[in-house]
Amino acid sequence: MEMRFSVFRYNPETDEAPRMQDYELRELRPDMMLLDALKLIRAQDETLAFRSSCGEGVCGSDGMNVNGRNMLACITPLAQLKSPVTIRPLSGLPVVRDLVVDLGNFWRQYREVQPWLVRHDPLPEVELRQSPEDRERLDGLYECILCACCSSACPSYWWNPNRFLGPAALLQASRFIEDSRDQATAERLDRLDDAYKLFRCHTIMNCADVCPKGLNPSRAIGQIRQRMLKQFI
Ligand code: SF4
Ligand code: SF4
Ligand code: FES
Repeated sequence: MEMRFSVFRYNPETDEAPRMQDYELRELRPDMMLLDALKLIRAQDETLAFRSSCGEGVCGSDGMNVNGRNMLACITPLAQLKSPVTIRPLSGLPVVRDLVVDLGNFWRQYREVQPWLVRHDPLPEVELRQSPEDRERLDGLYECILCACCSSACPSYWWNPNRFLGPAALLQASRFIEDSRDQATAERLDRLDDAYKLFRCHTIMNCADVCPKGLNPSRAIGQIRQRMLKQFI
């Protein structure tokens, strides 16, 4: 199988402007993933920069925009892609080089939601127990691999990347708000009660549409809002 690829190239240190570069690969197998193709392209042209690690949809490092849609290269079969395949970095994020984006702000927002359990009571000797029902409340929240595909697809995030926390960080906020073992729910909700941090979400649903893990950040944002309402009634 032969396929053509048009890949975004830009090195801010040496290039005046971004450009698209074409590559052609022959003898591809339909069961190959896009990440395999990128590695073959890099074998031809070692200047191409992209991130990857696990190769199995677990680490979240190879999110990119492929034929106009955000996805993970390592779990995207070539057979599902229309040639020529246009590959760009995740949109709305500053480009470090080629397909590598600067996730500094994304990680700052992740830290801002305090993604860890907060306990005011002394910790028990052994473990913090949770009923099966309480554990189930975390389904659809804990599986996030922080690939940034959702935040990069969110128009509200493009316009306010520094003030709106974005779907990925808000899904993480919800993951700890919903956790029966956490004792900082009220503080968490207070911190999110802001015209921008949470309320810039306009339920456009791009986030749920692109999430490679099938999660729904938009629904998680709605749950936070409901919790907030209950807290203030
Ligand atoms: S919610 Fe989905 S798209 Fe967003 S960061 Fe997590 S895994 Fe990626
Ligand atoms: S539902 Fe909210 S968070 Fe998701 S893409 Fe739309 S505005 Fe962004
Ligand atoms: S390389 Fe880890 S998710 Fe794709």
